[in-house]
Amino acid sequence: MSYYKIPSLEQYFKHYKKSVREPRKFWDKIAFENFSWYQKWDKVFDFDIEEAKFKWFVNAKVNITKNCIDRHLSKRGEKTAIIFEPNDPSEEALHITYNELYVRVAKMANVLQEQGVKKGDRVCIYLPMIPELSIAVLACARIGAIHSVVFAGFSSSALASRINDSDCKMVITSDGGFRGNKVINLKEIVDEALLNCSCVEKVLVVKRTNDSINMNEERDIFLQPLLDNALNSHIAEIMDAEDPLFILYTSGSTGKPKGMVHTIAGYMVYTAYTFKNVFNYEENDVYWCTADIGWITGHSYILYGPLLNGATTVMFEGIPSYPDFSRFWQVIEKHKVNQFYTAPTAIRALAKEKLDFVQKYQLNSLKVIGSVGEPINEEAWHWYNDHVGGKRCPIVDTWWQTETGGIMISPIPFITPTKPTYASLPLPGIQPVLMDELRNEIEGNQKTGSLCIKFPWPSMARTIWGDHQRYKETYFTAFPGKYFTGDGALRDEVGYYRITGRVDDVVIVSGHNLGTAPIEDAINEHPAVAESAIVGFPHEIKGNALYGYVILKEHGISRDKDNLTKEINQMISDQIGPIAKLDKIQFVEGLPKTRSGKIMRRILRKIAEGDINNFGDISTLLNPEIVEEIKNGKL
Ligand code: WTA
Repeated sequence: MSYYKIPSLEQYFKHYKKSVREPRKFWDKIAFENFSWYQKWDKVFDFDIEEAKFKWFVNAKVNITKNCIDRHLSKRGEKTAIIFEPNDPSEEALHITYNELYVRVAKMANVLQEQGVKKGDRVCIYLPMIPELSIAVLACARIGAIHSVVFAGFSSSALASRINDSDCKMVITSDGGFRGNKVINLKEIVDEALLNCSCVEKVLVVKRTNDSINMNEERDIFLQPLLDNALNSHIAEIMDAEDPLFILYTSGSTGKPKGMVHTIAGYMVYTAYTFKNVFNYEENDVYWCTADIGWITGHSYILYGPLLNGATTVMFEGIPSYPDFSRFWQVIEKHKVNQFYTAPTAIRALAKEKLDFVQKYQLNSLKVIGSVGEPINEEAWHWYNDHVGGKRCPIVDTWWQTETGGIMISPIPFITPTKPTYASLPLPGIQPVLMDELRNEIEGNQKTGSLCIKFPWPSMARTIWGDHQRYKETYFTAFPGKYFTGDGALRDEVGYYRITGRVDDVVIVSGHNLGTAPIEDAINEHPAVAESAIVGFPHEIKGNALYGYVILKEHGISRDKDNLTKEINQMISDQIGPIAKLDKIQFVEGLPKTRSGKIMRRILRKIAEGDINNFGDISTLLNPEIVEEIKNGKL
């Protein structure tokens, strides 16, 4: 029996039990049967939880790109590996076959080596969503260099701090990038960043916009002529299972961003396994994840997970609102997409627009639709289910994190019955637990607590680059012996998990734990409301009270605010209870959001508390101007 693909609900429970009782056997079998290795492991895993040290597939030798590309060539050489869909719909899409991908990655790997990049060196990749981004990532992996992809929306100072933190020797960038009707001059941002980075020796530059840029003769080289002269085959480096594959920065609740380090073999096995099961990928399917490769979702589920399975994966350069709000749906129809994976923030934004945008396209190719990155509220879930999935497609609400490397809790489509706003059940190998404030494990169902994982899994981040102590403290000290996710969760009567938001978003009002996400859900169901965010603020009697920031839809703006406030509180009262009513509501035009679409609640909390003079670092905000507006609106 193979464990790689879960065939039924009954088998899911069997596989799950096996993975808990005999994790060595479970992962040994999956890893051995489904990947190619230069040398097998001595031990499936080896942990020292106290020191937060974890090893998987100890002493195995492997190259992840052999598994992503080379081993598919005999059977799938002419199959499309990557469909590149450009920002401008009138520009032709590009279909890159596995054979072509091999040649392009081989050439790039040869170029990197000719330019002095060696195994273990860090390479920063700061590129828009163009094929060269995927090729650069894979080429690094092929030669054993550690890629550090920085989302091309980050500013020069954010870029510089990431380059310096991991001492990158090279930056790969482009003249610029297209996003909707904007052209972004990336090279200028890199030039500015590099004024403060002495570690960088070379910059490789891809031409995308063909705008004129400055080239520093000693440092900068256009990539294409190098590729033209490079050999079109490359012998992959033999890597240790635990060699780092990449660093990816994620912001913590305090301090500078954390460079999460993922290592090769565990990440490979787990992302491949979860991709196959969570998206129910079948051989000729076309899969599309709308994330950017600058985030973990893009790493694991645009590139590695799909390519490890020999899939066809779409890479989209543009944005959902360009040329109009139907772009996602147009792309699904055009490429006959079977699996579609996006974020609730995108769903909510599109659900606000006329239904006509989604209804004018044929979406019947879709089989599975997914959500990731934040709790999906009930209204958005139903809209996605009704208008995108046509009530036929299971929604996989996937919970995971940059740190976890792969999806941890999610329905398995056509197998796990879905329930709106619930990520549902853990995947095999994942042992979630809820913890109370006294650090005790909470037994039984219909309970809420801090979400921890009590047994290691293959794709967990191994450390924070350059700061193992911080890794240990952030993730393994709050609940000793367990990985602390920072999220809170509810376990319902059948054991389904619902992520209620970051634990720091839970507000205790009169002794009651209230997750902000369900309250936001309730508010968002009001027909005049587009979006909302709830935070706590100190209250003399209740300890904490709730403060709501509410964005209205077009037709709500002219309405009487006192009446609206009453109606909103009534809805909360009806759905959650009077305890969850808001003490204050501020109607706002927007919410401060990071570039990955997360609301920066820290700022909203400060404004609600009346502490409006120091907001700390807001450089990662997409819309920093909104902070002043909200602050002034309150005064
Ligand atoms: C949140 C993204 C609810 C959660 C892959 C987590 C979610 C953080 C979900 C990680 C979900 C992610 N439901 N919340 N399905 N998925 N989150 O590192 O708070 O960008 O801790 O990784 O996003 O965000 P990150």
